[in-house]
Amino acid sequence: MPVGVYRSSASAFKPFNSIPIGHIHRTSRRSPRFNSTLSTPTPPKTNRIRNFFYSAALLLSTGAVYIYATDTRASIHRYVVVPAVRTIFPDAEDAHHAGVKALQILYQLGLHPRERLRLSSANATTPTLSVNVFDTELSSPLGVSGGLDKNAVIPDALFALGAGVVEVGGITPLPQPGNPRPRVFRLKEQQALINRYGLNSEGADAVAARLRTRVREFAYRHGLGIGDDAEQAVLDGAAGVPPGSLTRGCLLAVQIAKNKNTPDGDLTAVARDYSTCVEKLGKYADVLVVNVSSPNTPGLRDLQRVEPLTRILAAVVDAASNTRRKSPPKIMVKISPDEDDLEQIRGICEAVTQAGVDGIIVGNTTRSRPAPKFTIPPKEFATMDEQGGYSGPRTFDQTLSLVKTYRRELDFAPVRLSNKTRSEGLHSEQATTETTENTQGNFQMPLSRPPELTNPYDLPPKTIFASGGISTGEQALAVLNAGASLAMMYTALSYNGVGHITTVKREMEDAMYGTKQLSS
Ligand SMILES: Cc1cc2nc3c(=O)[nH]c(=O)nc-3n(C[C@H](O)[C@H](O)[C@H](O)COP(=O)(O)O)c2cc1C
Ligand SMILES: *[C@@H]1O[C@H](CO)[C@@H](O)[C@H](O)[C@H]1NC(C)=O
Ligand SMILES: *[C@@H]1O[C@H](CO)[C@@H](O)[C@H](O)[C@H]1NC(C)=O
Ligand SMILES: *[C@@H]1O[C@H](CO)[C@@H](O)[C@H](O)[C@H]1NC(C)=O
Ligand SMILES: *[C@@H]1O[C@H](CO)[C@@H](O)[C@H](O)[C@H]1NC(C)=O
Repeated sequence: MPVGVYRSSASAFKPFNSIPIGHIHRTSRRSPRFNSTLSTPTPPKTNRIRNFFYSAALLLSTGAVYIYATDTRASIHRYVVVPAVRTIFPDAEDAHHAGVKALQILYQLGLHPRERLRLSSANATTPTLSVNVFDTELSSPLGVSGGLDKNAVIPDALFALGAGVVEVGGITPLPQPGNPRPRVFRLKEQQALINRYGLNSEGADAVAARLRTRVREFAYRHGLGIGDDAEQAVLDGAAGVPPGSLTRGCLLAVQIAKNKNTPDGDLTAVARDYSTCVEKLGKYADVLVVNVSSPNTPGLRDLQRVEPLTRILAAVVDAASNTRRKSPPKIMVKISPDEDDLEQIRGICEAVTQAGVDGIIVGNTTRSRPAPKFTIPPKEFATMDEQGGYSGPRTFDQTLSLVKTYRRELDFAPVRLSNKTRSEGLHSEQATTETTENTQGNFQMPLSRPPELTNPYDLPPKTIFASGGISTGEQALAVLNAGASLAMMYTALSYNGVGHITTVKREMEDAMYGTKQLSS
């Protein structure tokens, strides 16, 4: 059977492979036209008329300002708000906090920016930008990646910007402060960032409480009552929306991580950290994201490298399957682009397959410092020496190449595994009950789903989300065509503002259909 059958999750974008995506039109942006009326001089006798006129103008212009400023298509977000925030907050972390706070307050007031765009593909005669992910028809193939909303304060405000998936977190079991400041740095000329936040988190309890409140408020607003039963009803799907996102056509991903002082080498402790997070946060998530930092001890035999990773992942999958909810959350792992050695990638794909993980987020910040395409000011050049993970457009080529590699290796992993199992004379039935002790000698975890490996072709294809350097519609299409189901962004949003998801969607449509003007 051809391996191509595995590609169904990504196939929504296959037809557009051949569409040239070189011509991206930026449509002219609307600008407000209501500023001259207030300064017109008027004779005194027409006072009442004038007052009436002014009030009407004021009302209309307030309405217009509201409509304009809350529309993600408005150019002020990019050309006024972003530079203003950057000037007011020279420190990138202050700007980050201010941005989150502003979105939080605006959302509470109902004044948040939102996507009013109706894509021409909403027409139903043309294929849409929607994509099927985990049996949900996502309204958008674009996502917001982890770290922007670390404590799940503004997931709904981010959905409103046009994201199909919002990933909140990373969240650690116990609160932790992260690294000392400064820990976020702008590389403005490269539209890039370096960060060494070090996973500052309010901790699983605080975030779980916030997400619980969100579900309960949702239940109440939708007439499902208050309290535990109402919450459970929503989580079990009574409202007809995914239990995490609470928004039709959207999914909420929650990224969990281990505490800094949990030793890396102690698999039991690491697995316990993850399980704690799964227990507390799992029911509020559509997707749980965990970190996979590498089986990167070169020279060890395949099995020895892959096994510890498989066991940690199996523990997470197992904990998630016990989530008190009708359908448990999916599990994805997020990988580092620095682990680009083919053997490492194969090891990760085997662990993912064997542990029953549902997909991979391909890409994160990189330890490397991609050379800028042009000369940069000396000050920025010096900033590039800051410790931390680099993100920005220059990482895109690496992301695209990794998506292709992961697509291929994930599709092959079941074949490789069953071949390996056979050639090692190990029957998969044995593998189900077999437990192995790790170096600590007390961690026992059965591998979760090996029976499926007896028929590798029945495994559903693994889902890929792409993250790293995506900032245009052309790039989003490229990763989707390479086998990802979602293109995620972070750094591009911080440089281009809250309207950028809409902009990228329009660029995608322009590239796909040559539509220059989208109806509103
Ligand atoms: C300031 C900052 C904080 C981040 N925090 C996290 C995090 O907590 N967890 C995580 O998995 N990724 C984190 N990331 C990585 C992003 O989710 C994303 O994978 C990466 O920045 C590459 O995508 P981009 O080029 O679109 O920014 C962070 C990135 C930045 C710039
Ligand atoms: C919707 O479809 C009709 C008929 O196929 C087409 O003529 C029209 O241009 C489409 N509208 C938009 C906004 O794309
Ligand atoms: C992504 O990289 C950041 C460093 O920028 C790190 O803190 C985070 O844990 C990584 N995420 C995952 C899921 O590994
Ligand atoms: C990610 O996982 C690896 C391996 O378990 C571990 O070494 C690393 O510290 C983890 N990082 C985080 C932030 O959880
Ligand atoms: C299966 O394993 C054999 C050796 O055990 C190897 O020669 C062959 O290439 C493998 N096939 C695949 C598809 O990995």
